[in-house]
Amino acid sequence: MANSVLVLGLQWGDEGKGKIVDLLTEQASLVVRFQGGHNAGHTLVIGDETTILHLIPSGVLREGVICVIGNGVVLSPDALSDEIAMLDARGIPVTDRLRISGACPLILPLHSALDQAREKAAGKDAIGTTGRGIGPAYQDKVARRALRVQDLFDLERFDEKLTTLYNHHEANLLRYDIKTDNLDALKKRARAYATLLKPFVCDVPGLLDEHRRAGNRILFEGAQGTLLDVDHGTYPFVTSSNTVAGAACSGSGCGPNAIEYVLGIVKAYTTRVGEGPFPTELFDDDGAELAERGHEFGATTGRARRCGWFDAVAVKRTCMINGVSGLCLTKLDVMDGLKTVRICTAYELDGNTIDHPPIGADELARCKPVYEEMPGWQSETAGTTSIDKLPEAAVRYIRRLEALVGLPAHIVSTGPERNQNVINVHPFA
Ligand code: GDP
Ligand code: IMO
Ligand code: MG
Repeated sequence: MANSVLVLGLQWGDEGKGKIVDLLTEQASLVVRFQGGHNAGHTLVIGDETTILHLIPSGVLREGVICVIGNGVVLSPDALSDEIAMLDARGIPVTDRLRISGACPLILPLHSALDQAREKAAGKDAIGTTGRGIGPAYQDKVARRALRVQDLFDLERFDEKLTTLYNHHEANLLRYDIKTDNLDALKKRARAYATLLKPFVCDVPGLLDEHRRAGNRILFEGAQGTLLDVDHGTYPFVTSSNTVAGAACSGSGCGPNAIEYVLGIVKAYTTRVGEGPFPTELFDDDGAELAERGHEFGATTGRARRCGWFDAVAVKRTCMINGVSGLCLTKLDVMDGLKTVRICTAYELDGNTIDHPPIGADELARCKPVYEEMPGWQSETAGTTSIDKLPEAAVRYIRRLEALVGLPAHIVSTGPERNQNVINVHPFA
């Protein structure tokens, strides 16, 4: 029996992590975000109410669940304030449920302004970031000049550090002609940030340890996906954090033995938002159909997601990197009605066939997918909760993916709603 489960994405994000975290929090005491920031967009559908969360963990709708933002998250107080207001308006008592590490680096308005200006200036080399300031904030963190949540509680020192940070960025703010808060406005803003954040700050490693010792169930919630990992993804078309399983420990303050089960979330096909190579991308009617039926528009930026076939080469590798225990295959229902379906089983690169992804973006951009074709299924899977009720061809597709990736599908998600799942093995069981 697993007492701690890590949920993470095995592709380029938007695999359906939020839905599954929300489902599994029924059994959990703590839900922990450990990397990324409000570049994430996690969608929860309960009955006819849809909630999109960017920063607050996807357990917040459950009474009795504590939601934790760990030190690995870059935190925009403005985004947090908006999200709290959205939840407050729905009568969700966020204040009782949220805890934040004092070690989270802050995303200030200058970070998002710099992110956007740099993307604009990069022209054809743009990454297609979410423009939320994620990259610039992580840059400040590793350069050891970031302001962190804890700094807000000694405002005299904060002002000194802020001045240093502002001076560092001033040349670029001028270079890009960025109109954002000046130093005085930032100092004023910091006072409001301190008031906002104070009630939530807690000793996160201590809290995790306390719950672990009490035998309570802990859920770690990854953001983005492994192909967007800054080391293992399609660099440089990646985000600026480690999105892999290993980051859950460093980004929250626990040891590797605190994670007993890794649930890899994977769409039954593939999507990607932003720029970068995508070997199985479709430009035909099948791609358009997947996009339309899957409502493939970004939950954060509203951008159209690029769609393609399932890439077993990439997913086999991301399972390996993360030590995945079991798969959760999502959006199977979106493929209902396709005449034939395809799976990428190898790449052709410069005349050679390879069975693992090359490092980085340049070679991957030259990779051509080698496909296996299977019959599709014409009957509906939407909403199905039992494997026996799935069409035979859909089960054959699932079995083939399992064989290619080398792991079992413990959950198959058949719709956006909390309870539209076939649960073969429950991660907490
Ligand atoms: P996340 O970033 O991984 O949490 O995923 P997003 O919320 O960005 O995108 C997933 C989208 O697919 C959301 O709109 C979900 O409501 C929806 N979704 C999740 N699972 C399923 C599923 O099994 N079937 C369908 N049709 N939609 C799903
Ligand atoms: P969730 O958690 C999909 C992508 C951006 C861009 C790249 C870098 O909802 O799965 P960034 O703003 O992070 O510097 O952008 O990463 N990206 C995501 N794509 N889902 C996400 O989060 C993403 N977060 C960032 O589109 O290509
Ligand atoms: Mg998303």
